[in-house]
Amino acid sequence: MRLPVLLLLASLLRAQGAFLVQPYLQLGDAPKAAAADRLDLLWQTEDRDAAWRVEVKVGGRWKPQVPAFRRLGAPPLPAHRIYQATLRDLPPGARVPYRVKRDGAVVFEAQAQVRKPGAHRVVVFGDAADGSREQGALAQAVAAQNPDAVFLTGDLVYGRGRASEYRAHFFPVYNSEAVPLMRRVPFLGVPGNHDVPWDLQRWPDTLAYFAYWSLPLNGPGLKAGEPGAAPAVRGVHDAVVAAAGPAFPRMASYSFDYGKVHWTVLDSNAYVDWMAPGMKAWLEEDLKAAQHATWRIVALHHPLFQSSRSHMDDQWMRPISPLLEKYGVDLVLAGHVHNYQRTAPLRFMPTKLGPRGKPVEGTFIVDEAFDGTTITRAKGVIHIVTGAGGAELYDRWQTDVRTSWQPWTRAFVSDRHSFTVLGVDGRRLKLRQLDAEGRELDAVTLTK
Ligand SMILES: [Fe+2]
Repeated sequence: MRLPVLLLLASLLRAQGAFLVQPYLQLGDAPKAAAADRLDLLWQTEDRDAAWRVEVKVGGRWKPQVPAFRRLGAPPLPAHRIYQATLRDLPPGARVPYRVKRDGAVVFEAQAQVRKPGAHRVVVFGDAADGSREQGALAQAVAAQNPDAVFLTGDLVYGRGRASEYRAHFFPVYNSEAVPLMRRVPFLGVPGNHDVPWDLQRWPDTLAYFAYWSLPLNGPGLKAGEPGAAPAVRGVHDAVVAAAGPAFPRMASYSFDYGKVHWTVLDSNAYVDWMAPGMKAWLEEDLKAAQHATWRIVALHHPLFQSSRSHMDDQWMRPISPLLEKYGVDLVLAGHVHNYQRTAPLRFMPTKLGPRGKPVEGTFIVDEAFDGTTITRAKGVIHIVTGAGGAELYDRWQTDVRTSWQPWTRAFVSDRHSFTVLGVDGRRLKLRQLDAEGRELDAVTLTK
């Protein structure tokens, strides 16, 4: 074997031995873009001391950053370390080389895509990491699209949001040599019902979202145990809550800007009441403050409007509709229902609220003129379900039975896995739905 090949193999082996989870990018607590932007870099190792350094190449020079770490000791995984460094002074839109050193030796190198100020593409999908063949195929197709960021609409990891499940079928799928996504672009997301405790007395390593992700901490200032906060039981979830630090429970909802788009990310789990005064006030303030943005997107797990027979009565987020319309939200991106759906632009006024799990009735105004090709200015909010990211599909038969769709549903694809590509360029937003082979299943353009 030739020397360069041997050297490459040696460095690969060294890199693999250094990490339990290889370095991955997060937006960090940076809701707003800045002239000197930032990203967080995280990785996981065994619970053992070593001298770690991160270096970022900015302006032709390697600048060192020192990571901190938190320890997570929640069975069944052995105690491990979550290292985190903030890469600072990054030029907007640049692709910045970085490398990670352990005890003086480079053990990892990649390039980070810094938040772009102008045109950009974000890939969106949900209901993802269940370890299926389809999840892997879709991850490869997403990487081939070369996105600038990825947003996951909840049910991030199956079945119970556990650290051990992230290790088994989340990080190896989205952050490998073959699918080098998370090391290149920031992943963002929102917890779904599978990411929070299902059975409060079991699975001490559930709630791993709060320990493993690093996202803005500008959501409602919830404290543990308060109404609207993700439930955690003392004596069961202590290790995860400790490792999460200030992220728990606050990081479940947040907002951020990417280019000229403002994203409002809502924890839509059944324990949250977005009509409760404190929660509603946060949502309204966030949308009001986002009037500077060209586009406004709300992302959550549970859809407001959808046509699938599955989860048909999970309508408890509908009461926020009038607020979204008042402040000019363009798109709502959801998951939970394992297929792809798009509505016409809608306006909805609830007339009858009920308990969780019962239909929320109201009156609809449907923009019948919008077609997304010749008429591209929408009068109302377009609701997307993009929950075909890996888990088993729901209601495959409905794709071909149009009479089973709600009257305002315009696209419905439930017979194959797929993901959404949002391309934003100034006052033009193009949404495309692609399958694992890159086939276009739906496309719509919005303009302002
Ligand atoms: Fe779900």
